[in-house]
Amino acid sequence: MTMKEDSFPRQQLETEFARPEESPFDALASAYDAWFEDEGKIVFVIEVKAFQKVLPLLPKPWLEVGVGSGRFAQALGIKMGIDPSSELLTMARKRGIKVFQAKGEERFFDEETFGTIFLIVTLCFVDSPLAVLQEAYRILRPGGKIVLGLMLRDSPWGRFYSAKKDERHRFYKHATFYSYEEVTELLEHTGFAVEKFVSTLFQKPNEVKAMEPPREGFFSDAGFTIVVARKVPEGDHKASRERPMRI
Ligand SMILES: C[S@@+](CC[C@H](N)C(=O)[O-])C[C@H]1O[C@@H](n2cnc3c(N)ncnc32)[C@H](O)[C@@H]1O
Repeated sequence: MTMKEDSFPRQQLETEFARPEESPFDALASAYDAWFEDEGKIVFVIEVKAFQKVLPLLPKPWLEVGVGSGRFAQALGIKMGIDPSSELLTMARKRGIKVFQAKGEERFFDEETFGTIFLIVTLCFVDSPLAVLQEAYRILRPGGKIVLGLMLRDSPWGRFYSAKKDERHRFYKHATFYSYEEVTELLEHTGFAVEKFVSTLFQKPNEVKAMEPPREGFFSDAGFTIVVARKVPEGDHKASRERPMRI
């Protein structure tokens, strides 16, 4: 498939903003986006710096699934995104991102369309992480990459936000946090081979005061973990797909 980033079928372009379905993020959109101007300002810069470590490795075209208000897409140079929240998509569009209203589980794009798919703090909010990863696998080109930005459950930040979920916090009640083992198992089961980890945000939640450099590799005390995984050809990962999942 040699489809160019800006040459999607007419039928897909027409679905932009054409679907009235409500997302829990619609009502939270302004508050969500405002966080980046407030306490999230330095956290965002730290996380963007960590992503910059992996960007040169990633084949184009790029898509962000769960693009939200488009802050990361804009900062990282991701030109296209999908998200179920029309309110967030309106913001992302104003940031110059080409957006479509869709869930990551949906068969929205043709197979083998993208070189890289990003899911940035989104896997924990989707209905079915397995279905989203399977769909990402389908629409990635051979040798394509998936990039996950995660707050892992057993990290200091994962524990902090899990406590907020338990308190029925307006955002985090919608989240399900996964452990390092669960994420790697999900990726391998879907047909991805993990290639690289980058870790950052070693400062504690509510105590982030200074910039910090990202570290290569996985560190369980990092608040934010980036995973890069490669699409393994179908025939080569059959065995891991047939193994039952523990989650
Ligand atoms: C925490 S926000 C992250 C947004 C953006 N990636 C960022 O980091 O600013 C989670 C996003 O996941 C989106 N989302 C929820 N369910 C989804 C699904 N099934 N497929 C794709 N995105 C989904 C939400 O609408 C929201 O924009």
